[in-house]
This record gives sequence, structure tokens and C-alpha cells, in this order.
Amino acid sequence: MDAFEIHGGSPLCGETQVYGAKNAALPILAATVMVEEPCVIDNVPDLEDVRVMMKILQTLGASVRRDGTSVVVDAGNLRSTNVPADLMRRMRSSIFLMGPLLARFGDVRVSKPGGCVIGQRPVDFHLRGMRALGASIEEKHGFIRCSSNRLFGTEIVLDFPSVGATENLIMAAALADGQTVIQNAAREPEIVDLANFLNACGANIEGVGEDTVRVQGVHHLHGTRHRIIPDRIVAGTMLLTVAATRGKVTLTKAEPAHLGALLAKLKQAGVRVHTDRDIITIECLKPLRAVDMRTAPYPGFPTDLQAPFMAAFTTAEGTSVIRESVFEARFKHVNELTRMGADITVDLQTAVVRGVSQLSGATVEATDLRGGAALVIAGLMADGVTRVEGLQHIDRGYQQLDVYLRDLGAVITRTGAMS
Ligand code: UD1
Repeated sequence: MDAFEIHGGSPLCGETQVYGAKNAALPILAATVMVEEPCVIDNVPDLEDVRVMMKILQTLGASVRRDGTSVVVDAGNLRSTNVPADLMRRMRSSIFLMGPLLARFGDVRVSKPGGCVIGQRPVDFHLRGMRALGASIEEKHGFIRCSSNRLFGTEIVLDFPSVGATENLIMAAALADGQTVIQNAAREPEIVDLANFLNACGANIEGVGEDTVRVQGVHHLHGTRHRIIPDRIVAGTMLLTVAATRGKVTLTKAEPAHLGALLAKLKQAGVRVHTDRDIITIECLKPLRAVDMRTAPYPGFPTDLQAPFMAAFTTAEGTSVIRESVFEARFKHVNELTRMGADITVDLQTAVVRGVSQLSGATVEATDLRGGAALVIAGLMADGVTRVEGLQHIDRGYQQLDVYLRDLGAVITRTGAMS
């Protein structure tokens, strides 16, 4: 029950490195169960979600060990295809094990993920795709069992470019007989990273990063060493924090090409941004100018940065209209921002943010990962002291966020629960 105590008002200044992407590390770790030889994955962030995925792999019988920022997985002697329900409940992304376990063993049992605070998040696209590949699916007592003697390549058209469904189907198709074509595929950089990993293991996947992906099934995958891409959502959160606190920071080991939509909005808002290979320098001397924003699948504006963006624009000059088009209920942070003095009204999936001159510190509670990051940004902008509770959500996706921010001059400490 830890909380962050934040004394707002210090601009972030200095230089910091971006670590590896959680949303690439999770599917890639899941994909290692398809490989019968050891794999070394470098630049793996040390986050709660990653620890849960490593624990699941161990429970299935893989040998998994962390060595600094690398994780070594040997799934040669995997025993079980039954993903433990208690671990699965701790992380939705364990659904990524469905495709790989089905592909290698022809059988998998996972607990059905429920809705979550940002929306219903069904897995119907995943299941429809697995069925199209030839799996039979049984849904009973909160579990999903997928089985098949063989998977056969086929054509799949997704109703929406779902990141998770695209990844799960690519993994299942990688060991299927023949060619699978996935249309209306998601194009996120993390999917490209997953395909690069699988191709390095001997898979034959083309077109990733475009909306039609072709997977020619192979019989066997061999071990490899792979480096995870930088976390564009962590980088984006830092850029928005710097803009919000009117500071100047250089991010190294970043990938500016993955942040096009955010960088364009920051420039529109009057922020100075300079990129050079894997370096992004951002400087914000004046209040932000309000800008409108609509989330969309990549290369559109990432839904994962919607809440941090909203927090940063609560004190912009003018009114910003923010539309959330990916998830149906991703405005849980609005109530907490309003308690800190923000002027925001929500109508269905649109939030109207009227810039105020100053936020004021308050006790607020994070109820989801990115919404939690938004509250931290608000705390750093606010007058007085802000206490952000619900750190278990923030720790799922940000590595020691307080330490990271303190190094850049923020006044933030992790404290125990109030009695
Ligand atoms: C991934 C990311 C998450 C990000 C999201 C959208 C990981 C681990 N998580 O989540 O951080 O916010 O992409 O960029 O990579 N949908 C269905 N049926 C399905 C699957 C999805 O209706 O079977 C809907 C969802 O409810 C949502 C939309 O499609 O409204 C997009 O979801 P999806 O892209 O699948 O998100 P995730 O893969 O869960």
C-alpha cells in the first residue's frame, strides 16, 4: 500500500535513458515457449508484469533466469500447457501464451481474462483466429481450452487492428502448416519486434508493420539472442512530464520514429523538440498551447499516452478536445484530475479539457497503469503536496518511476500507507 508523495513545481531537467518496452518483452517472452533451445532476450525491463510472465514460464516448466537486463529462457523441457489461473488473473497479457502453446503442443488451457478498468477487453478476435487456424475451443467455468492436432494456414480478417490478437495469431501461425494471411493487422512497433525475434528463430513472417501480414509456417524454431526495442510509452510519458513541468531533458536510447504522433502534437503545442538518431531533446519554456487529440491504432496517437497527455494539458492555454477511440472506458483518471483543480468534462468518449492556471495538490488514487502516470504528472505540476495511491498499477509498467524522476530534479518519494 505504498504511495508517492510529490511536491510539485520543479521543472524536470537533465538526461536519462529509455529502457526496453514492456509491451514487446511480454509477447516475446511468451513466444520463447515455442522455441526448444535457449533464447537470450536483452533490454528486458524489470517490471511487475514481466516478473509475472517469467513466473508463468517457470510454472510451465521452462528454466528462466534474469542476468542484469537480460533474461535467459530455456523452454526445451516444458511440462505443462495449463497456464495457472492465479498468475493469469494478475496480468491480462498471459493470454499471449495461447498462440505459442497451441502452436507447439496442440493444447492450451488459460483462464478467461475478465474486463478491466479501461474497458471490456474481450478476446473474441483471438479465439476466432485460432478457430480459423483449425483449433477447437471450449469455454467453460471461466477457462478457455484450445486444442488441435495440427494448425493450418488460412486467411484471417480482423474486425479491428487489435495488437494482442495480431501477436497471438502471428505466433500460432508461425508453426502452422502453410501460409496464413492476417488482414487489418495492427502495425505497432512491438509487433514488428516480436516478428523480428521469431524470424531470428527461423520463422518466416513478412509484412509486419503494414496492415497485411503473411506468415509461412515452419516446423521448428531455434534459439537466438534478441534485444527489445525502447519503450515508446515510457519515453512519451517522460516527454509529456517535461512539457508539463516546463523543463529541458535529453532522452537517450529512444526511438524517435516510434513517437511521431506525440512529437507532432508537442510541436503544435509550442514545445521545442530535437531528434538525432536515438536521442530526443525536449525543451518547454512557456505554458503549452491547447491542442486537440484523438487516439488511434499505430501510427496514430497511442491510447496509452492519452491519460498522461490529458494531465499535461490541464494547464494549457485554451481548450483541448481529446477523443478516445481505442478503449471505451479510459477516462477513470478524469475524476482524480478534477479533484486537483482540472476543468474537464466527459461525454462518452470525448473529454473537453479547459486549461486552468494551476493545479493544486491532493490525495488521489491510481486505478490503472497509464492513468496512474497521469496523476504523477499532475502532482509534479501542482501547487503543494500530492499523494498518489495505488502504486501497484504504476509499478506494472514503470521501472522505479520515483527514482527515475528524482534523477531529473523532481521532488517525489515513495512512502508507506497512512495509518
Ligand atoms: C495492447 C497493449 C495496451 C494498449 C493496446 C492498444 C500490450 C501488452 N498491451 O493491448 O497497452 O493500450 O494494445 O494499443 O501490448 N478487442 C476486441 N476483441 C479482441 C481484442 C481486442 O474487441 O479480441 C478490442 C479491445 O476491447 C479494444 C481494441 O480492440 O477496444 C484494441 O485492443 P487491443 O489492440 O487488442 O489491445 P491489447 O492487445 O489488449
